[in-house]
Amino acid sequence: MSKPKVFVTRAIPEKGLEMAREEAEVEVWPDELPPPYKVLLEKVQGLDGLLTLLTDRIDARLMDAAGRSLKVVSQMAVGYDNIDLAAATERGIPVGHTPGVLTETTADFTWALLMAAARRVIEGDAFTRAGRWHTWGPTLLMGPDVHGATIGIVGFGRIGQAVARRAAGFGMHIMYNNVKDCPEPDPPIPMPVECVDLDDLLRESDFVTLHTPLSQETYHMMGDEQFNLMKPTAILINTARGSVVDQGALYRALKSRRIACAALDVTDPEPIPMDSPLLALDNIIITPHIASASVQTRTRMAKMAAGNLISGLRGERLPNCANPQVYEVHKDPRGQNGNS
Ligand code: DGY
Repeated sequence: MSKPKVFVTRAIPEKGLEMAREEAEVEVWPDELPPPYKVLLEKVQGLDGLLTLLTDRIDARLMDAAGRSLKVVSQMAVGYDNIDLAAATERGIPVGHTPGVLTETTADFTWALLMAAARRVIEGDAFTRAGRWHTWGPTLLMGPDVHGATIGIVGFGRIGQAVARRAAGFGMHIMYNNVKDCPEPDPPIPMPVECVDLDDLLRESDFVTLHTPLSQETYHMMGDEQFNLMKPTAILINTARGSVVDQGALYRALKSRRIACAALDVTDPEPIPMDSPLLALDNIIITPHIASASVQTRTRMAKMAAGNLISGLRGERLPNCANPQVYEVHKDPRGQNGNS
C-alpha cells in the first residue's frame, strides 16, 4: 500500500522529520523563506497531511485546493492565528499544535528580554565594542532594579504563569490580567499574585509583559490609551504576537519617552521592515521571534507536530488538537473510520 503524502513547509528539526518519514512520503520545502501562498496552493493538491509553521497562511481556499484527501493540518507552534480554524472545523479537518513543550523556554526568553532591557545589556555590549569603555563610570548605563519591582503579566495562561514563577524568584510584586477570567496558577506560585483589571495593571507596573494569544479581543490591545496609562519608567516586553500591540502607538510612546523602553520578540509584520521607524529608536530591543528557539524545545515541538500529523494520517484523534470541536461537529472527521 502506498504511503500517505505529506508536505512540510520548511526543514524542521530532524527528529520530527524522521518520525514523519516512517509514516508518510514526505516532501520538505527546502528554502529558508516560507513557500509563497501560490506555491503552497499547488503543493497541497492531493495531500493527506500538511505540517505547517506560523509563517504559512492556511485558509479555506488552501484547504479546498488540497481536496478531500487532506486529513490533518499539524502546526509546529502553540499559536495558530495563521490558520482559519473555523474553516478547518467546517471541513472536518483536525488541526494540531504544540502547547506546553515551549512554555518554560519562552518564559526564559521573556526573562532574557526583561533583564536585557532593564539592565541595558545590549547597549553595554555596543558601548564596549565601540571602544567607549574608558573607565568605571559612577552613573554609566544605569537602569531600574528588577528585584522587588512590580511586574504586570497580561495573559495568564501557561507562559504567563511560568513568567510569574520567575518573577517570584526575583521577589517581585506580581499582578496579572487575563482577558477572560482570573485563573488560579497551576502549579501554585510561591508569592501572592493579584488579578487586576488591565488599566490598574498598566498604571502600577514597572514591567508589562504580554502573553495573550492573538484574537479579535487582543488585536491592538496595547494602543495610545494604554501606553498613556503606563509609568514613564515602565518597560514593555512582548513575546506573544506582534499585532497585540499597535506599533504606531508604541512608536509614539517610545519616541516621546512616554514609556522608557520596549523589548519585542514579535512584530507586525514579521520580519519587521528595515525602514520601520521603530528601528531608528535607541530605547527598543527587537529579536527575530526566537523565544522558543532552544535546541531541546524546537526538537520537542517538531516531534509533537509529527506526532499530531501521524495520528491524523492514521485517523486517530490528535493528542494536541486546536479544534477539538471537529470531533463533535463531524461524527467522522476526515481520516477517521476510513473517511476522507
Ligand atoms: C508559537 O509556538 O506560537 C511561538 O510563537 C513560536 O514558537
